[in-house]
Amino acid sequence: MEIIIRPTSESAAMLTARLIADALRKKPGITLGLATGRTMEKLYAMLGEMHKNEGLDFSLCKTFNLDEYVGLKPTDPNSYRSYMNKHLFSHVNIDIRNTHLPNGYAGDLAFECAEYEKEIVECGGIDIQLLGIGRSGHIGFNEPLSSLASRTRAKALSPTTFAQNSPLFENPNDMPKFALTMGVGTILEAKRILMLVTGEEKAEILAKSVEGPVTAMVSGSALQLHPHCTVIVDEDAGKFLTEKPYYRWIFDNEPEWDAYRTL
Ligand code: F6R
Repeated sequence: MEIIIRPTSESAAMLTARLIADALRKKPGITLGLATGRTMEKLYAMLGEMHKNEGLDFSLCKTFNLDEYVGLKPTDPNSYRSYMNKHLFSHVNIDIRNTHLPNGYAGDLAFECAEYEKEIVECGGIDIQLLGIGRSGHIGFNEPLSSLASRTRAKALSPTTFAQNSPLFENPNDMPKFALTMGVGTILEAKRILMLVTGEEKAEILAKSVEGPVTAMVSGSALQLHPHCTVIVDEDAGKFLTEKPYYRWIFDNEPEWDAYRTL
């Protein structure tokens, strides 16, 4: 795991956007695993700008989102399908048929989840999985006690997640109590993982995830098991990390990061 600390949420998002853009240019048919949430809005806006100003081409790219609320139609304004259309897909030249989210409105949710796993495999697996982290420590919607080997399935959302996300609903009680989510095991199969974490309210759970013990109580800690995971944070989110000088030294000296230090 590498941890990159940037001065602001803006520069953390820009570095993440640049990494995705560079990977897309290198492999135009890349399969991206995508996340939703407030943290990603800035990053998606930046990718939209790169498409507009630099001709960043999404036409061959395929995407799989991490999760979707159970019981919301894809057209519901609070669905993650609507979020993706609004924040990314409508701003770039992606072929909408290449974009995938689990359907939380499916009649047979277990079948929907098994098919989702199959489709990921048929696309050759996920090249880069983008992640945020919830205050409960969840990646995707893998709430505390999610098995570290879990696959795509329906999951009950924790009170912490309810408190985090329900204000986004016009009536907070309308937030679904369940979501379909890729499992921790599904996420760990991605070839590369980029996690973007910003803001002081994530500082404690971030430190637990990357410097604490690997435990099903904090799904984010499972990332310590991944061979190529880069965690990009701003100073606020990095507040409680204990080995900051070491992480900074690596970023300042590894040739891999030469092109990214001035972002
Ligand atoms: C969303 C997802 C979640 C979010 C997390 C952080 O698809 O998978 O794990 O990344 O809840 O959300 P924000 O960015 O709103 O704090």
